[in-house]
Amino acid sequence: MAAGAQFGPRQIEAADLLGGRVEPHYIRVLRRLLGAHALAEKLTAEGYRRAAATVADPEIRRIAEKNLAEEKRHAALIYGLLAELGVSEEAADRGSIVLRRAPSFEAARCFAEQAEGELGLLMGNISLDMTGLIMIGVNYRDSSYAPHAFAAEAILEDEAGHDEFGSGALRAAVERMGAEAVGAALREWLPRAVNFFGPPGSGFTFDCLRYGLKQKDNDELAGLFLSVLERRLNQVGLEMPRLNNTYPHTIV
Ligand SMILES: [Fe+2]
Ligand SMILES: [Fe+2]
Repeated sequence: MAAGAQFGPRQIEAADLLGGRVEPHYIRVLRRLLGAHALAEKLTAEGYRRAAATVADPEIRRIAEKNLAEEKRHAALIYGLLAELGVSEEAADRGSIVLRRAPSFEAARCFAEQAEGELGLLMGNISLDMTGLIMIGVNYRDSSYAPHAFAAEAILEDEAGHDEFGSGALRAAVERMGAEAVGAALREWLPRAVNFFGPPGSGFTFDCLRYGLKQKDNDELAGLFLSVLERRLNQVGLEMPRLNNTYPHTIV
């Protein structure tokens, strides 16, 4: 439980919200958080669809199609939670229009709209699966909103597989395409990946922490991601590109 949080893990059910037993602002914050989560899953699914259609290797295509099916299921799960709160998928996406254009969604947007081939698939995996695994595993698994915590549990099982695929795909990409090509793609994608965690110290995240809807602030999770990724890159002989310290991050 985040220090100072008003609610512990899995303390609140949908019936508590619908029955008016929780303050209305909790519901507003939860809806916005679920809307962002649902959109991230949906754009990740679209990216896997693009990548699966443009990858030549049949085994990699098979995995991309499996991941696509799982990401679609994740999106449906989170949109389902919103539906329970009276928010349709269309209404949720309308509420996320500004977010979709924000630096924090550039990775998801680029994966959905541009990523192609094996390198695009790998960059989407690093930017969305690796980061998502941390967000869901650290923040949402212990959400005060029980239905989100249970959904996070279910998603995590799949994401562990996506992460395993990603670490193998990174090694294979370096062997097939060379460290230089993978390094160049990383310099393009790493800022997007880190920015996916969102700005540190925002009022919205403060509310999420206060309500136990998140456990850690965005910059803590981003730091965790960078340390895991650096280890992974070094194992295959790649250097970690250097980023500036302020959000939105860029390469220095
Ligand atoms: Fe997912
Ligand atoms: Fe995933």
